[in-house]
Amino acid sequence: MMSSPRVSKALIPAAGRGTRFLPFTKAVPKELAPVVTRPALELVVDEAARVGVTDVLFVISDGKAAIGEYFRPNVDLEAALEAKGDTDGLAAIRHAEGLATYHYAEQKEPRGLGDAVGHGAEFAAGEPIAVLLPDDLIDERDALLGPMLDVHAEHGGIVLGLLDVGPKEISKYGCVVPAEGADPGADVVGIADLVEKPKADEAPSTLAIIGRYVLPPEIFAALRDTSPGAGNEIQLTDAMRALCRAGTPTHGVVFAGRRYDTGDRLEYVKAVVRLAARHPVIGEDFRAWLGEYDPGADG
Ligand code: G1P
Repeated sequence: MMSSPRVSKALIPAAGRGTRFLPFTKAVPKELAPVVTRPALELVVDEAARVGVTDVLFVISDGKAAIGEYFRPNVDLEAALEAKGDTDGLAAIRHAEGLATYHYAEQKEPRGLGDAVGHGAEFAAGEPIAVLLPDDLIDERDALLGPMLDVHAEHGGIVLGLLDVGPKEISKYGCVVPAEGADPGADVVGIADLVEKPKADEAPSTLAIIGRYVLPPEIFAALRDTSPGAGNEIQLTDAMRALCRAGTPTHGVVFAGRRYDTGDRLEYVKAVVRLAARHPVIGEDFRAWLGEYDPGADG
């Protein structure tokens, strides 16, 4: 049986303008929006590091310098915290710095997710990579990327994180066509084809690609050959579709755990509430308050 090397590199696209979160994204990258105290982006890097990723490439754009500041050591702040004996503060800031070795690439124009991923060709250097979209958070108690890497080690090719989002939501996502004979209830499904954001009544399934991918090095040539698609952007789904149709093994791991969508305002607020409710320091008090909170009486 073919066996692929364990993936040690992850690419995280973080170049979007975050217009849904204006005005705060005028000055602060939306990827640094705190989910209680830690930025969403750190939670995603943490997820990758937990399954053996050692090198992370952030694809950023102009105005995203704060991402580099966040992940690199801040000598002055560390000295100040040390002088105060603030060991909790020190541990908190050192956590992000130590998760991986960080690399940066700049996407000069917003030409789509496929274009952003295409900036990783040199970083990948012929190896498969993981791609994690920072709008999607996976609860740390639930596994997705680990099982995806296991499937990749066995089959190689493309492995996608999938979620059954139902017929109403599928038009917001990349959608997959399960291989003929695939058991719709299985954890791992073979994929025969993909389509980006199908119309609800034309969707071939309700299995959506959530923002976790393992991609073979061939993806970069496929991206170079991909013309702009939906929204006049270079779509990663279109490049994966070309590889899949040309015979690259393509599988999906169907996720059944807890996922938070921090790319949407309402879902972001829900994510903060859910994670605050189980926060080690404020969780208990927050749950007690939440149980008594009556929004109708708050005004
Ligand atoms: C992107 C991808 C889409 C995928 C989604 C996951 O869409 O193009 O295939 O399902 O991320 O979050 P976007 O959310 O950038 O519109």
